[in-house]
Amino acid sequence: MSSQGTHGVLITMEGVEGSGKSTQLLRLSERLRRLEVPMVVTKEPGGTPLGQEIRRLLLQPHASGEAWCAEAELLLFYADRAQHLHGVIRPALEAGKIVLCDRFEDSTRAYQGASGVPEFVLDRLHELVLQRLRPHLTLLLDMDPQVSLQRVEVRNLGYGGAFQETRFDEAQLEFHQRVRNRFLAIAKAEPQRVALIPARSTPAEVEHAVWQRVAPLLRNAGFQVG
Ligand SMILES: Nc1ncnc2c1ncn2[C@@H]1O[C@H](COP(=O)(O)OP(=O)(O)O)[C@@H](O)[C@H]1O
Ligand SMILES: [Mg+2]
Repeated sequence: MSSQGTHGVLITMEGVEGSGKSTQLLRLSERLRRLEVPMVVTKEPGGTPLGQEIRRLLLQPHASGEAWCAEAELLLFYADRAQHLHGVIRPALEAGKIVLCDRFEDSTRAYQGASGVPEFVLDRLHELVLQRLRPHLTLLLDMDPQVSLQRVEVRNLGYGGAFQETRFDEAQLEFHQRVRNRFLAIAKAEPQRVALIPARSTPAEVEHAVWQRVAPLLRNAGFQVG
C-alpha cells in the first residue's frame, strides 16, 4: 500500500456486474457529503472527458461489426486509466481528498485475465501506468453472478422506460464465474488492501458492512467522520 507523496485516500469499488457497486458508491458518497469531507467520485472507464470517448469506443459495438482484438482493448482500458490518474485521481489525492472510484485496476485484472490476457502482460502495464500507486482500500462486493446478472436484467428493463432486454447465456455466466474467482484470488493475495463484502443482503446491510471498513480508514487518515 503506497501512494507516495499524497495525503488523500483512494477507495475503489469492485465486483461482478450487478453486485451493487454503483448503488453502494452512491450511498457512501452521500454519507461522506453529509459529513462534509473533501471527496471526488469517479469511475472507470470514462472518468475524464477523453476517457468518456474511450468508454464509448469500448462499450458501443461499431457499425462495421469490427470488434477490438484483446490487446487493443486492453491498451484502451490502460489509456483511459493513465488519463484518469493524470487528470483526476493523482491531483485529488495530492489535494488531500478522498477519491471513490467505481471499478479500477482489479476489474482489468479480473476481466481481461478471464479473457486470456497473460498475467505478466497485466503486471507490465500495471507497473507502467500505476507505478507505485495502490488503492488504500478496495471494497470487493462479492456474490454469485447467477444472481447478480439477474439484477442486471431487471435493472436494464427499467432504463428510461425503454424495453431493453438483457439475457445472459451459459457461456456468459461461465465467464462471469471466472471473473468472480479472479476477484476472489486478488482478495486472498492482498487481504490488507481488499475488503471482501458479501453483497447478496439488502442494500442497507451492504452499506453498513462497507462503512465498517471505510470509517476506520478515514479516521486514521485524519478525516472527521464521527
Ligand atoms: N443489495 C441489493 N439487493 C437487491 N438489489 C440490489 C442491491 N444492490 C443493488 N441492487 C439493484 O441491482 C441492480 C444492479 O446494481 P448496481 O449498483 O447497478 O450494480 P453494479 O454497479 O455493480 O453493476 C440495480 O437495479 C440495483 O438497484
Ligand atoms: Mg455500475
